[in-house]
Amino acid sequence: MIAIHNSKSGFHPAWIAYCQEQGIPFKLVNCLDDDIIGQLKDVRALLWHHSHMLPKDLIAAKPILAALSHQGFPVFPDCRTNWHFDDKLAQKYLLESLELPMVKTFAFYDPKDALSWARQTKYPTVHKLKTGSGSSQVRLVGNYHGAKKIILKSFGKGFSNYAPFNSLKERIYQFKNGHAPWMSIVKGLLRFVHYPEYATVQGRERGYVLFQEFVPNNPSDIRVIVIGNKAFAITRWVRKDDFRASGSGHFSHDPDLIPLSCLESAFKANQKLKGQCIAFDFVMDEKQTPRIIEISYGFSPEAFRHCPGHWDQHLHWQEGRFVPEHWMVEALLKDLVVTGASDPK
Ligand SMILES: Nc1ncnc2c1ncn2[C@@H]1O[C@H](COP(=O)(O)OP(=O)(O)O)[C@@H](O)[C@H]1O
Ligand SMILES: [Mg+2]
Repeated sequence: MIAIHNSKSGFHPAWIAYCQEQGIPFKLVNCLDDDIIGQLKDVRALLWHHSHMLPKDLIAAKPILAALSHQGFPVFPDCRTNWHFDDKLAQKYLLESLELPMVKTFAFYDPKDALSWARQTKYPTVHKLKTGSGSSQVRLVGNYHGAKKIILKSFGKGFSNYAPFNSLKERIYQFKNGHAPWMSIVKGLLRFVHYPEYATVQGRERGYVLFQEFVPNNPSDIRVIVIGNKAFAITRWVRKDDFRASGSGHFSHDPDLIPLSCLESAFKANQKLKGQCIAFDFVMDEKQTPRIIEISYGFSPEAFRHCPGHWDQHLHWQEGRFVPEHWMVEALLKDLVVTGASDPK
């Protein structure tokens, strides 16, 4: 028997439906229960699509999953897949140490070091918080003056994980494009007073500053997701008059738009990363070489429902709709057999 975190969002509904269809014995658990470890005594594995937007998950998911993994209890996401999730600092060191083709990323823990870097770097450059998604914490910095302001703030009062003004701008943009109802704008206004809890539990981002080389002339980024020996991908277009794609809501499922070099690079990278499921976000540099800007085990599965097929590890196209959540369960079950953790009861 396997355990699945009892939730109606993310990957959970498809995991549950798949186990029901396939007759895979499972039980639903609340991973946030005090006695969760005890509750898992009679199961062989746990699946939990924890989210960086849920305050409780943010506090508890990484430690709980790491504790379970410690003695080899099979979980999704496992340590290699999970420890760097929603942490761009962690990803910088991980991708550098594996010599993977990440866009050059700079991290400083001392304002003097950051300022001396900023005096001689090329502009524009990109500033990011280590946390955040949907481009909400990513901005272009045009000159030294802008970089200095960011550096002083990073080592002063710091940045909130929620930026109400940027969020309102984004809501208006999404409303204008028919991707959000007008109520979303009202909510955005209320958010000036009530920050979302996920931002308040995390505290402010301070004591470090993260910059990334700007890779110009990308009308989109390319998100390739690798699960085992399969990959699928979408093209995410940047917002109008902007360089940021993530969260724009404009994307294409057309496989012909995906450079094979991105698929090749994603498969190669995952051979080193050994992740169960990794989304690689690529931009193309001036030589049209794919460069990784970010990795993440979690993604919004709805955005991929219309993918007409996937690629195998030989980069051969395999036509046909699929449900990536099923592959996650299959891989975990296979793992149980391979590691001798016995077949699921
Ligand atoms: N170094 C960069 N050069 C060019 N574009 C970038 C760079 N970093 C990010 N972007 C663009 O900004 C978007 C958001 O950046 P990302 O680091 O993926 O943040 P998030 O975690 O919010 O998705 C990306 O989808 C990409 O389009
Ligand atoms: Mg991203």
